[in-house]
Amino acid sequence: KDAASTVIVVIGASGDLAKKKTYPALFGLFRNGFLPDRVHIIGYARSKLDKEAFRARITSEKLKDAPKEQLAQFLDICDYVSGQYGSADDFGTLNKVIEHHEARFLDQAKQTNSGVNNDRRVRVFYMATPPSVFVPVAKSIKAGAYSPDAHNRIVIEKPFGRDLATSRQFSEEFTQLYRENEIYRIDHYLGKEMVKNMPIIRFANLFFESIWNREHIDNVQITFKEAFGTQGRGGYFDEYGVIRDVMQNHMVQMLCVMAMEKPRSLDADDVRSAKADLLRSIPPIKLEDVILGQYTASADGKEPGYTDDKTVPEGSLCATYASMVLFINNERWRGVPIIMKAGKAMDEAKVEVRVQFKDVTDPLYQNIARNELIARVGPTEAVYLKIMNKRPGLVNEPVISELDLSYRRRYSDAKIPEAYEALLLEILAGDQSHFIRGDELDAAWEIFTPLLHQIENEKIKPRPYAYGTRGPEGADDFIQKYGYKRRSQAYHWPTDLGR
Ligand code: BG6
Repeated sequence: KDAASTVIVVIGASGDLAKKKTYPALFGLFRNGFLPDRVHIIGYARSKLDKEAFRARITSEKLKDAPKEQLAQFLDICDYVSGQYGSADDFGTLNKVIEHHEARFLDQAKQTNSGVNNDRRVRVFYMATPPSVFVPVAKSIKAGAYSPDAHNRIVIEKPFGRDLATSRQFSEEFTQLYRENEIYRIDHYLGKEMVKNMPIIRFANLFFESIWNREHIDNVQITFKEAFGTQGRGGYFDEYGVIRDVMQNHMVQMLCVMAMEKPRSLDADDVRSAKADLLRSIPPIKLEDVILGQYTASADGKEPGYTDDKTVPEGSLCATYASMVLFINNERWRGVPIIMKAGKAMDEAKVEVRVQFKDVTDPLYQNIARNELIARVGPTEAVYLKIMNKRPGLVNEPVISELDLSYRRRYSDAKIPEAYEALLLEILAGDQSHFIRGDELDAAWEIFTPLLHQIENEKIKPRPYAYGTRGPEGADDFIQKYGYKRRSQAYHWPTDLGR
């Protein structure tokens, strides 16, 4: 808020990501009063559009029902400049526009506000572009629009390479141009409420802190199920597959907040060091600890199979489902299986981290289930703990119940921000704790790269599963083999209570 000026440049502004995520998030911040006072947003892309055509484009989807007046005020601070991605000259033209606004804001600040730090100019370059132009754009920014005496922040989002080697090469090109504290690598899962909550659950509650280890935890399951297929994104997806699409990044981040050691402080570098340390204690995943799947048409034939998508190459071996087990070689976790399961076109949409504790020793009662702590990231947020409780009434037997902190009920007035809103706000504040550091990214790729290469070299065939089901045959047995006990009594978390 004390910056003399903030200019946000959205590069790739005429594309899909900008329309669906970046601009709606910027608008969300704007309407809630979270954008800085002297801020201007400039869209940059190749399409030759005038201001009006551009504004019509960014409001054509998510923002079309936004309150008219607020939207008009927001659009007032949105401009557009067209240019090539690889042209330093075009970025020089962009620079002129940025400077114009900075000068305007500086005047304003001088006239109106004594508390403003005139030296603090913030320039955010948000790349909502395909990864193929990350490097040319980064070079052009540096050559044409970077200001050495301003705070420059370069924002990029996955995919960061395809494997360790390509990611390293990409990192090298970037780090030749920018300092690590200027690079904001987005993993939007780090902006999710429940992912941010995990360190608080762990490190601000004595009872969890003291049982969070191999003595008490039997296994951990991290689940990322989506109820829809690739739907038109098949072309993109086929190049990456489910492991690169969500496991190496989003699920790894969930794993990090669940398993990292307590950071020395909440400073961005302490938090990121704790994560990088954890990732470095995980040996590469072995093919024998993996099951791959690919969805076929739904049983009723209404939903198409993965390869029915016209943009997917015929006979594609791309996995849309994977279950895998990894281990963490440190004192806290040695021997505890961490089961990761992700899939498209499954029976339900659910993202959660489930910590299953060990069996009660010498039980007094029959038929007791294990305690579990579940942090539900989506579709609705909840933390719940499965416990055994006396079945109410004239019986003396245990029944599975839950201590339930469902956000919709407990925090019914709270508005949970969109992940991109939360992250953009942190970028504006210059806080990198929820962004991936280069060494963290590298360590994450080390875990997956041998596996990915082996799958590709040996042309491992994914097992089929029908659209809308729990995954390929054998997947449940596979998970149980690593110790996960599904339940010893019929149990359903009562999601039907409006949570
Ligand atoms: C993206 C993946 O990073 O995350 C998509 O590319 C996936 O395939 C999406 O659907 C999930 O994000 P969210 O926020 O909708 O859970």
